[in-house]
Amino acid sequence: MLRASGLVRRFGGLVAVNEVSLNVADREIVGLIGPNGAGKTSLFNILSGQLGPDSGSVSFAGQDITGASASVCARAGIGRTFQIVKPLVSLTVHENVTVGALLNYPLATAREKAAEIIDRVGMRSLLDQQAGSLTLESRKRLELARALSIEPKMLLLDEILAGLNASEINESIHLIRSFAHQDGLAVIMIEHNLHAVMSLADKVVVLDYGRKIAEGKPEVVVRDPAVVAAYLGSDD
Ligand SMILES: Nc1ncnc2c1ncn2[C@@H]1O[C@H](COP(=O)(O)OP(=O)(O)OP(=O)(O)O)[C@@H](O)[C@H]1O
Ligand SMILES: [Mg+2]
Repeated sequence: MLRASGLVRRFGGLVAVNEVSLNVADREIVGLIGPNGAGKTSLFNILSGQLGPDSGSVSFAGQDITGASASVCARAGIGRTFQIVKPLVSLTVHENVTVGALLNYPLATAREKAAEIIDRVGMRSLLDQQAGSLTLESRKRLELARALSIEPKMLLLDEILAGLNASEINESIHLIRSFAHQDGLAVIMIEHNLHAVMSLADKVVVLDYGRKIAEGKPEVVVRDPAVVAAYLGSDD
């Protein structure tokens, strides 16, 4: 599904993403972890067209999308959420999600598709509420609904569990699992909640200072000495 190879992105003297390669298969759930500032969101920004790479390549569903715009990446089937949620605050929940569905459908159908997605993420009762008046939990769900609204083949989830309570996290875990196992989506989730990563991810990738320092099965990766050192802030 996704093949990213040798991705590099610099900001001035800082190498935010440093020679990162990553493959993701259909239905695979990949946990992307690493300390603050490791380059996780920057990597998402490259994969979803918010940021161009300085070098490296990205192919998705057989299409070369290296350096492609956000709208090209969305059309190719990459849906994402933003760490800092950004709903269109003056629009309703239904309208926010309809905007994404307009990528594939005329207005009347887009509204129907949007309502189905809103149901799926458990927001039916909030359909006509203004996005600006939602709680954090609901804004996170809306962000997920917006990512789904383009009918993606791959979902990039940037810390969608942050700030949620234990039962909300459990609901979200079931929902994320269903996207991969029922809908066949590939999922990459950036997540600081290791319990969620351990219970969901088929594979975990660890970034530290822009570099990939480990990749593999969750239970193996979390015991990797390099990963433990990165999390404990050892200076090697
Ligand atoms: N647009 C930008 N301009 C300059 N520096 C940036 C920009 N975006 C990110 N950075 C820097 O790149 C590095 C990686 O940032 P990034 O947001 O990708 O990290 P992250 O792993 O998502 O961190 P967090 O866990 O805190 O969300 C950081 O040092 C950050 O300050
Ligand atoms: Mg981030």
